[in-house]
Amino acid sequence: MDVTVRPATMEDLPSITEIHNHYVIHTPVTFDVQPYRPGQRVSWFHEHSDGRRYRLLVACDSESGVLGYTCTGRFRSKAAYETTVETSVACRPDRIGQGLGTLLYRALFDAIADQDIHRIVAGIAQPNAASNALHERFGFMSIGLFTEVGRKFDRYWDVMWMERPLVRAV
Ligand SMILES: CC(C)(COP(=O)(O)OP(=O)(O)OC[C@H]1O[C@@H](n2cnc3c(N)ncnc32)[C@H](O)[C@@H]1OP(=O)(O)O)[C@@H](O)C(=O)NCCC(=O)NCCS
Repeated sequence: MDVTVRPATMEDLPSITEIHNHYVIHTPVTFDVQPYRPGQRVSWFHEHSDGRRYRLLVACDSESGVLGYTCTGRFRSKAAYETTVETSVACRPDRIGQGLGTLLYRALFDAIADQDIHRIVAGIAQPNAASNALHERFGFMSIGLFTEVGRKFDRYWDVMWMERPLVRAV
């Protein structure tokens, strides 16, 4: 089955939310602790879909629908941070380790390549070998580990922050 990557539409929001909720409920990879209803994610959808710096893409096939998503969003709200974006990526739990994360990130970075972005950053709750490997593959460098900044499932979790320039050095 051919997988295509395209900009997300509002019709994709239930599937995107379902994927996110799986990781909210079962894992520490997101520090959200309560699952969302799709209607609660409408603002989030718009914040990640301005068609310029902020993009939300989905990977789909015609049989199974949305298999994963990735996005860029604002890193921090103060004005001088506007040329920095933060990425997120997640695949359906039954479709991890099949190249979808790579497909999504390739499309995301192609989509924002001509935007006024200087730094791309990602915070990865540890341990997460797949996410670490994906980000390293796309040229992210670790810039440090915040220790025990998240508490979920009655324990504290570290977050590794990674960054790369918009255009990866080759
Ligand atoms: C993280 C995630 C998006 C990566 O996408 P993926 O489709 O599973 O990854 P890919 O198959 O494209 O592989 C990307 C790289 O990770 C490596 N990798 C994949 N799974 C791995 C694992 N379990 N352990 C170690 N490396 C792994 C691959 O070998 C590949 O490395 P390479 O390019 O050097 O060969 C996906 O695993 C996922 O959705 N995980 C759950 C949600 C999550 O953790 N999101 C990120 C939060 S920061």
